[in-house]
Amino acid sequence: MTVALSPDLVAQADSFLVDFDTRANPWEFFQRLRETAPVLRTSSGTWLISTYADCQSVLKDDRLSRREAALRTSALPAGDAADQYTTRLVCEDGANHRRLRRIVNLPFAPRNIARWTPRIMSVAEDVLARRRQPRSMDFLEEFSYPLPIRVLCELLGVPHEDHARMGVWMSVLLEHINETASEEFTKQKMDAMVGLSAYLRDLVAERRAGAPQDDLMSAMIATEAEGDRLSERELIGILAELLHAGFESTANMMADGLHCLLEHPEQQRLLAEQPQLAESAVEEMLRFATPVLHALPRVALEDITLPSGGTVAQGVLVLALVASAARDPEYVQRPDEFDITRQDNPHIGFGLGEHYCLGASLARGEAVSTFRLLAQEMLATMRIDGPIAWKDHHIVRGLEALPIAW
Ligand code: HEM
Repeated sequence: MTVALSPDLVAQADSFLVDFDTRANPWEFFQRLRETAPVLRTSSGTWLISTYADCQSVLKDDRLSRREAALRTSALPAGDAADQYTTRLVCEDGANHRRLRRIVNLPFAPRNIARWTPRIMSVAEDVLARRRQPRSMDFLEEFSYPLPIRVLCELLGVPHEDHARMGVWMSVLLEHINETASEEFTKQKMDAMVGLSAYLRDLVAERRAGAPQDDLMSAMIATEAEGDRLSERELIGILAELLHAGFESTANMMADGLHCLLEHPEQQRLLAEQPQLAESAVEEMLRFATPVLHALPRVALEDITLPSGGTVAQGVLVLALVASAARDPEYVQRPDEFDITRQDNPHIGFGLGEHYCLGASLARGEAVSTFRLLAQEMLATMRIDGPIAWKDHHIVRGLEALPIAW
């Protein structure tokens, strides 16, 4: 399909890749893309895919390689740290990816994660209990960041006294690194990676040597024992990936979701009156305020024509804009309406296909526990209590701070 592109749309697409102001409120831009250029080539050569059908197709097509993209976009100098960094589920393709997923899927399956609900709820209650007086807080700093890191550490079996150390490593590792990063920053990041890897290596060795505990690390080691085995590099890589992938996304999903609720007072009231709506509310937050704007890049291994008729050329980097797919009127009715009672909501905020989010059940569990608790305790009178700013992040659409009072 040949599409006459307006230069200002390409300019907007270029700025979307680097400018967080465009990322903070991308909805009109996404609509223009879907309507006029569903498969668009930016000046840097990255292709943006914006309709639901095309994103679905990209995420399910094994002719689009995550491994190639990971190797191409890694800004770390070649060596051990870079090798460790690309030993992750989301950097693998095909048979090796399937092998790794088979080993780690079971502990993260919905029925196994459901067992952890009481523990997740008690962490959420504990984090909230510390914030009751005064009746105000920065929700991000005081609730939605501490909660996922504590839940992940507890579920993985990281001892309590090491949670703070883990938080520090994660904050360094989550800072985006690119070709323009300073030497000092690259070193800081490499040190954090080496420190975290060494720490996880000791913890794994302890678990393998001792009796299994009631935690996900023991569960991963136990499924291993039933057949295939993860190499040490793979196990460390996946554990670091879980901490990495499970932290920023969940924290922002909860904060963006709460922000959305507070901007729609009738929906806020509804949830405060009916906390049992927490599950559909969380699905709608994931659709309407999708925190992960796009899936990670893929490289097209051959020319591929998508359902919209656009073709991505062999060798190019492709970004599936899952947040744009979530507002596509071809797949969802009233796409720009935030409705926490919405049923039949097959958003792709957790991706799709082989790389579908491993932690989706866990993230849902954390968010549903949180919104149920907020609805029971303080949502009815809650309000935004200060200026809001969006943060500069390369993938996640998230707030810098969310000051609230109740
Ligand atoms: C609301 C929170 C979350 C959102 C929106 C989210 C979103 C996503 C998305 C869109 C992908 C697909 C990436 C791609 O195909 O390029 C993904 C993959 C992944 N996520 Fe999540 N995620 C969340 C929470 C979590 C949590 C809590 C964990 C783990 C504890 C986790 C672990 C992973 C892993 C390991 C992958 C890679 C899976 C693979 O490649 O096989 N995520 N996530």
